[in-house]
Amino acid sequence: METLKAIENRKSARDYTEQPIEREKLEKILWAGNRAPLGGAFHMTVIRDKALLGEIDEATLSAMKNSDNEFARGRAALPGYRPLYHAPVLIVLSAEDPARGMSSVCNAVTAMSFAATDLGLGSCFVGSPIQVLGAGGAFFARLGLPAGCKPLVGMLLGYAGADKFGRPRPAADNVNYVG
Ligand SMILES: Cc1cc2nc3c(=O)[nH]c(=O)nc-3n(C[C@H](O)[C@H](O)[C@H](O)COP(=O)(O)O)c2cc1C
Repeated sequence: METLKAIENRKSARDYTEQPIEREKLEKILWAGNRAPLGGAFHMTVIRDKALLGEIDEATLSAMKNSDNEFARGRAALPGYRPLYHAPVLIVLSAEDPARGMSSVCNAVTAMSFAATDLGLGSCFVGSPIQVLGAGGAFFARLGLPAGCKPLVGMLLGYAGADKFGRPRPAADNVNYVG
């Protein structure tokens, strides 16, 4: 697939099948993350443990239900809603310096999402699980992060299933030209 095709075809996958991701595809996607424009060092943690993913999913749902954020509460109240959408893999991206690392991790997720599309996989940029994975969160210690690293964003990965929670993307009207 050509790059522009991957950009055109990428969309957030909000349901996943149980089909495991081939090791070489996973490694290629992580490689793509490390090829993205870099603003500061970051770290990637690949979580594949089904039981742990289930615990993170449950704790995130509970945090969303009790959130001050109305949008999060609304999503969590949707029948059948699961914040990790049954994905077999969650990649957590962390950095020591959030101010410098945030641009790096966002770029890495973007690059990995295009690579995933190219390889026939679905993905979704997720901020919601950071509520329970971040420093001070219930799962922080289980991430095995290098000292000083703080989880900033997550990316779900897997073979996409039937998407029940996707939202249509509004048409963009956000460009002006100078010259
Ligand atoms: C910083 C950030 C956090 C996000 N967090 C979530 C999330 O927790 N759950 C979710 O379903 N989507 C999340 N998204 C994905 C966006 O909702 C999604 O990209 C947007 O709806 C556009 O849809 P598309 O990716 O299918 O084009 C997040 C995106 C960004 C950039």
